[in-house]
Amino acid sequence: MTLSWATAGDAEALAQVHAAGFDPPWDAAAFRDLFAGPGVFGLLARDGDRPAGMGLFRVVAGEMEVLTLAVDPAARRQGLARAVMTAALGAARAAGAEAAFLEVAADNAPAAALYAALGFRREGLRRGYYDRGPAGRMDAVVMRLDLTSRAP
Ligand SMILES: CC(C)(COP(=O)(O)OP(=O)(O)OC[C@H]1O[C@@H](n2cnc3c(N)ncnc32)[C@H](O)[C@@H]1OP(=O)(O)O)[C@@H](O)C(=O)NCCC(=O)NCCS
Repeated sequence: MTLSWATAGDAEALAQVHAAGFDPPWDAAAFRDLFAGPGVFGLLARDGDRPAGMGLFRVVAGEMEVLTLAVDPAARRQGLARAVMTAALGAARAAGAEAAFLEVAADNAPAAALYAALGFRREGLRRGYYDRGPAGRMDAVVMRLDLTSRAP
């Protein structure tokens, strides 16, 4: 397994992993657009040639935001998401970020467990934040990690 910084040139690979984790998925064009924005950086984990994990992040005004994070189902529970997040948090610290924020669906126990293990704490709730189509809406839990203290 290799972990490397991703660029807009990796948009297809990022979209491929994203599609394995989210419905609806973001397409390659969406990733290219995001890379054009300020402070955006990405990470891509590969198993041989196969994209297996990814994360997209943004550091603006001293805050890091997790834009998305996904690992292919076949590669889960091997520490990939933790490795992606740890590298991203290190980069954010190096860029001067003092806190990291993310939203996670209130029913997403695996992701909530990952973020809690990294030291994120619940900061608030956004009611009905996610549109699940016919299934209705789902709340988002806002989580925060202080980046000025110890590294995770
Ligand atoms: C959430 C997700 C990114 C985790 O990826 P992963 O590579 O399997 O996670 P890791 O192997 O790095 O797990 C690190 C820690 O997170 C927690 N964790 C991860 N998956 C878990 C699960 N299914 N159940 C309980 N805890 C879990 C554990 O504490 C784990 O440490 P451990 O394996 O030593 O117990 C992955 O399940 C995924 O892509 N889900 C769909 C997309 C998604 O929900 N993204 C996050 C949106 S906010």
